[in-house]
Amino acid sequence: MASTTTMARISLSVSLAAILLPLALATFPHRALLQSCQSNGSIRGKSGSCNTENGSECCEDGKRYTTFACSPPVTARTRATLTLNSFADHGDGGGASSCTGTFFDDDVRVVALSTGWFSRSKRCRKSIVIRASNGRSVKAMVVDECDSLHGCDTEHNFEPPCASNIVDGSPAVWKALGLNTDDGEVPITWSDA
Ligand SMILES: *[C@@H]1O[C@H](CO)[C@@H](O)[C@H](O)[C@H]1NC(C)=O
Ligand SMILES: *[C@@H]1O[C@H](CO)[C@@H](O)[C@H](O)[C@H]1NC(C)=O
Repeated sequence: MASTTTMARISLSVSLAAILLPLALATFPHRALLQSCQSNGSIRGKSGSCNTENGSECCEDGKRYTTFACSPPVTARTRATLTLNSFADHGDGGGASSCTGTFFDDDVRVVALSTGWFSRSKRCRKSIVIRASNGRSVKAMVVDECDSLHGCDTEHNFEPPCASNIVDGSPAVWKALGLNTDDGEVPITWSDA
């Protein structure tokens, strides 16, 4: 009898879970799951002459790296990760900026945006406002793409593709926000200026 009761309890728990779980998901949809863009695949890593002077992550042979064709929706306070990049000649940013075909000294406030946000050059030369959690904000010009689809090649310093939510800022952006470049990446929010 005891085992029948136990079985009945288990079966009741299972049925309850089967009913309540989808109900809970429908009632409280996870915003991130619904709104964020999903990865559209991956590329196979290939190592090469990766300049690690400023702590760049280098591709490893055979490892798979996620790619994104989209970025999360842009709002008045778009959550992103600020990373550090030198857009100067011989910096770790690789070639000249794709929007202007030129380099930018480290004291100029410029950024690269993940592929989805870069939006096929639509944000080229446009300004964005970046806000740090310390309350400070800075305006910076979009001059390049942080490529979320390609990487692990000479053009990208043998670094993996960017995540979908990156604002890759020059040293001047970090300085204006009062951030420590040694931190490498910090959470920020941004909006179109
Ligand atoms: C991801 O999207 C890009 C751009 O639309 C496309 O070129 C690429 O083939 C896609 N990757 C996969 C694995 O489908
Ligand atoms: C490293 O960063 C400094 C400034 O933060 C920059 O001047 C230098 O060019 C960078 N080096 C590389 C290889 O990117």
